[in-house]
Amino acid sequence: MCGIVGYLGNRDIESVILVGLERLEYRGYDSCGIALVDEGKIKITKVTGRLQNLKDALEKHPLAGSVGIGHTRWATHGSVRKRNAHPFTDPGGQFAVVHNGIIENHTELRRELEAKGHKFVSQTDSEILPHLLASCYKGDLLSAVLSTVKRLKGSFALAVISRDEPDSLIGIRTGSPLVVGIGRKEFALASDPLALVGITQRMIALGNGEVVVIRAGRQPEVYDFSGQRLRPQSVPIEFRPKAVSKGRYRHFMRKEIFEQPKVIATNLERRIRNARISLGSAFRFYPEELEDFEHIIIQACGTSYHAGLVARYFIERFTGVHTEAEIASELIDRTSIFGKHDLMIAISQSGETADTLAALRAARRHSDLKVLSVVNVKRTSVDRESDSSIYIHAGPEIGVASTKAYTAELFALLVFAMELARLKGTMKPNELKDIKSALSCLPEQMAQMLRQDRRIRDIARQFQKRNSYLFLGRGINYPTALEGALKLKEISYVHATGYPAGEMKHGPISLIDSKTPVVVVAPRDSTYEKMNANIEEVAARGGQVIAVGTADDRELAKRSAAFIPIPEVPEYILPFLTVIPLQLLAYHTAVFRGCDVDKPRNLAKSVTVE
Ligand code: G6P
Repeated sequence: MCGIVGYLGNRDIESVILVGLERLEYRGYDSCGIALVDEGKIKITKVTGRLQNLKDALEKHPLAGSVGIGHTRWATHGSVRKRNAHPFTDPGGQFAVVHNGIIENHTELRRELEAKGHKFVSQTDSEILPHLLASCYKGDLLSAVLSTVKRLKGSFALAVISRDEPDSLIGIRTGSPLVVGIGRKEFALASDPLALVGITQRMIALGNGEVVVIRAGRQPEVYDFSGQRLRPQSVPIEFRPKAVSKGRYRHFMRKEIFEQPKVIATNLERRIRNARISLGSAFRFYPEELEDFEHIIIQACGTSYHAGLVARYFIERFTGVHTEAEIASELIDRTSIFGKHDLMIAISQSGETADTLAALRAARRHSDLKVLSVVNVKRTSVDRESDSSIYIHAGPEIGVASTKAYTAELFALLVFAMELARLKGTMKPNELKDIKSALSCLPEQMAQMLRQDRRIRDIARQFQKRNSYLFLGRGINYPTALEGALKLKEISYVHATGYPAGEMKHGPISLIDSKTPVVVVAPRDSTYEKMNANIEEVAARGGQVIAVGTADDRELAKRSAAFIPIPEVPEYILPFLTVIPLQLLAYHTAVFRGCDVDKPRNLAKSVTVE
């Protein structure tokens, strides 16, 4: 996590870096800082807290210069204090460095440098970096960088400036992401292309083990860690400034919840063309390869993991292929389960989640299995390290709590399951045709769910003071219960547990009392009868039910303290619709409780540490 930016060019450097940091704040927001080379000196301003504090500090004491770097932090090593905030410099003030990632051998390097008389001011792993650079520097910046990176273990993205080279900016990447923005006579570095929107038009995504040397008036030069020159191609930056602004919405999360019908409509156009399925140009499996997979292991974290749990239903029901959905960080040590004819599906909005990558790499080390990734951000580590990818085309997702990426992931996975069923012959053409026609109604049905915003706000208002919630669902609705609970706890700091309804009697039933709202995902589907019995059990214990149910289910509406109707749809459409009121419930509850919806405490959107 942590976001880094760098800029070399003629614009007002402070503003460019601040805009970049603002767009990267989703990566961490406990402290931030900026360093510039100004009149032969490195000048640094850093603060704890949000970016506004940095803006205020710079308002009082502005900085100027031609090259600079900035950082927004999510603490790993060292508590949230000004002295642990980036950028860091060496005692001679020669270099300034911002870092995203972890230097695993920092203790050893720190001891070595201390033995040579270096003094450190922070508790971070990052501070050794400018010290090491200074000790490796013999007059040539690139050589110093290459000598420094040879000593480092771990994953990192760095941006470096040097007092003695005010026209140079260096970027280094291994593990953590870093992109190089290329404009007309101006260049930038950032952890995510989002930071470059409106600043440069093209970019290069640095690969692992690569260094970029940017010098004013020249094209950026990319080298590998052995000093070999590489010639990567630049690509256009796809997003427009509108896509990274809140527009008329109060929060990014709200904007992204309301974008869902459009995202699904776009995906419908891309993925189902003239009644044929197209998984996109990054989907490179041959049909014969797909037919051969006998076992599928889906792995992901957080909300993407919940999409994986839903996908398990899609794939097993459509194809009969044994499918498991696993939490990435729990899969890493289960390498013995990977077989040669397996397919691993890695799901990740950001494409950079460290746990997801670690599980992918562990599987690669132990088996010849194939990897399919389902990602939002292209050219990211998960995307690059997969044999094939499906892009979910959700557009930039900035709110820390994932919403539109979730339904877009579901869509990609549903379409993949349909294609697999077609190839394996497990579904008849007319069955597939029915699914396609059901999908064509989805954007309007999602919009219909969003029109219940006011009703859900009233429910949130009614229950806003409750401090513990239970979310229940069965079958395909169970992952929705997990996702509803996750959304609520992420942004409103309310304790919420998602549970398979059938398992309630084995434990969570003891939580039920008149103060604990129980959210049930109970549409009329194959699990309905059993779900109803569970709702009776809740009611019998005085629990207050908030039900998401089929619109004409008057019985359920009568038995519930609050009822959220959904249209009657086939089972595989349910997860797209039932999650929307739960996203809105979490959103409104967080707003009523005065929480920072887009930047919930302790969380980061892209978690690049294991
Ligand atoms: C973090 C975010 C979650 C996200 C999860 C997986 O925990 O806060 O919102 O679902 O990472 O992220 P990914 O980018 O891999 O989907």
